[in-house]
Amino acid sequence: LGVKNIVVFASGSGSNFQAIIDAVEANSIDARITGLITNNSNIQAIDRASNAGIPSRVILPSQYSDSTAFGLAILDVLEEWKPDLIVLAGYMIKVPTNVTRRYRGRIINIHPALLPKYGGKGYYGERVHRAVLEAGEQESGCTVHYVDEDYDRGPIIDQKKVPVLPGDTPQTLAERVLHEEHQLLPQVIQQLLSKL
Ligand code: GRF
Repeated sequence: LGVKNIVVFASGSGSNFQAIIDAVEANSIDARITGLITNNSNIQAIDRASNAGIPSRVILPSQYSDSTAFGLAILDVLEEWKPDLIVLAGYMIKVPTNVTRRYRGRIINIHPALLPKYGGKGYYGERVHRAVLEAGEQESGCTVHYVDEDYDRGPIIDQKKVPVLPGDTPQTLAERVLHEEHQLLPQVIQQLLSKL
């Protein structure tokens, strides 16, 4: 038993990461974030980590000969930080198979659309919202799912819907979805941790 450990993976601004930090600090998530792993060196997520006293590690895939070696580097850091739950919060690259296998059932991802639609390789950032608008969808939303060997294909845990409004641009839709992501992700994390 004891306090549960969360490790977060991020690649950019880290607003979802910040939502998790805030939820831990508000005691609505009963756990500690033992580290941040990222594939970029100068991103706001690293600043958010240092402001919260959370260690971060930049692990660049380009520094490794292949996915397996990249995965071993990630596994080494995870041995140190001992996650009970790994959260991909805006992590833009593939998690190597040796990592998803080792932590099967304990890695989740948040995607800014209602999977299984508008997911998979190449569906990230504004591309997702542009595709939703171009398809004439009346609603969109966000999805938290388990991570397996494919992009955005693991079992869905929960979703939150938002309306598509007349005159929406990819940016206005992205903002509406992101707001719901910041509510959904901490809620799902707490639910999962209470069952571990
Ligand atoms: C979010 O829209 C998330 O769903 C997607 O990437 C974005 C990350 O935003 N995976 P942030 O870095 O958490 O602000």
